[in-house]
Amino acid sequence: MSFTDFKTELRERTDKAESVIKKWLPENKGYPGIMPETMRYSVLAGGKRLRPLMLLYICEAAGGDISAAEPFAAAMEFIHTSSLVHDDLPAIDNDDLRRGKPTTHAAYGESAAILAGDALLNYAYEVIIKGIKMAGYQTGAVKAAEVIAEKSGVYGMLGGQGLDVETDKGTFFQDDIGKLDYTYERKTAALIEASLMAGACLAGADERTVSVLEKIGHDIGMAFQIEDDILDVTSDQETLGKPVLSDVKNNKKTYVSLMSLEGARQKAQEYTGSAIKEAGKLPFDSTFLIGLINYLVSRRS
Ligand code: IPE
Ligand code: IPE
Ligand code: MG
Ligand code: MG
Ligand code: MG
Repeated sequence: MSFTDFKTELRERTDKAESVIKKWLPENKGYPGIMPETMRYSVLAGGKRLRPLMLLYICEAAGGDISAAEPFAAAMEFIHTSSLVHDDLPAIDNDDLRRGKPTTHAAYGESAAILAGDALLNYAYEVIIKGIKMAGYQTGAVKAAEVIAEKSGVYGMLGGQGLDVETDKGTFFQDDIGKLDYTYERKTAALIEASLMAGACLAGADERTVSVLEKIGHDIGMAFQIEDDILDVTSDQETLGKPVLSDVKNNKKTYVSLMSLEGARQKAQEYTGSAIKEAGKLPFDSTFLIGLINYLVSRRS
């Protein structure tokens, strides 16, 4: 697949994910306050839409019905966005720009942002339950919901964010790269694993395929967070759509601060190579997935 063909397919798949997200967002009417508006602002501010795009792509590649996968894809973006709204709060990373726009708390105030983040997380499960019903309570849909819930919770993304905060306070982490990995596997890789795995569950894929996808998601997620650390020190605010040097400002332990820029780059390449190798084990055509893995390690934002 040429790079131009890959970019065209990426554009089409991003547009599709965008329209699915819009379709499942709460409407901004019939409610007297600003909560639905705040939720919509956070989600519609932009973003690469990688998680819903991955879920829909894997479901399609594994031979599933992507219309049944739509609510699950939208839910992944709602969970991801809720994590970003809370991640940017003054009590956590204290950033005022996200996806090229003022962060939710900068635009609507801190209390509204806390509640909109909560409401987005809950709304994700309201949508997932609709998806399970739409699928006639099929096992694959129930499994997809189980994977998404587990990978988002205390042993997944939220647990990782919790450890990240403990690390900042110096209670969890003493320059041990293993503990940084443990945090990254949860705060970032878990939602990528969930997106790939849920797509396969919805298509009725076998357990082996789901577990290969978990490994691929893990490796993509690690490379993705390491690259995010790199971009924090090498990019600019305009390109990134969020402040640069945020980790430096917060004195964070990152791959860059612990391993140097070169060491971090090498690690991101290693995880990328491992993800591509695993993708070769999938029982369906993974050309686009391999293109995406390669693209992510050289992304600009
Ligand atoms: C940002 O995720 C948070 C991390 C896990 C590093 P993305 O880089 O996917 O953010 P959006 O959705 O494109 O804004
Ligand atoms: C955040 O990691 C991961 C999640 C939000 C779950 P970062 O704090 O590095 O993400 P950015 O750089 O603010 O997007
Ligand atoms: Mg953070
Ligand atoms: Mg942050
Ligand atoms: Mg970051």
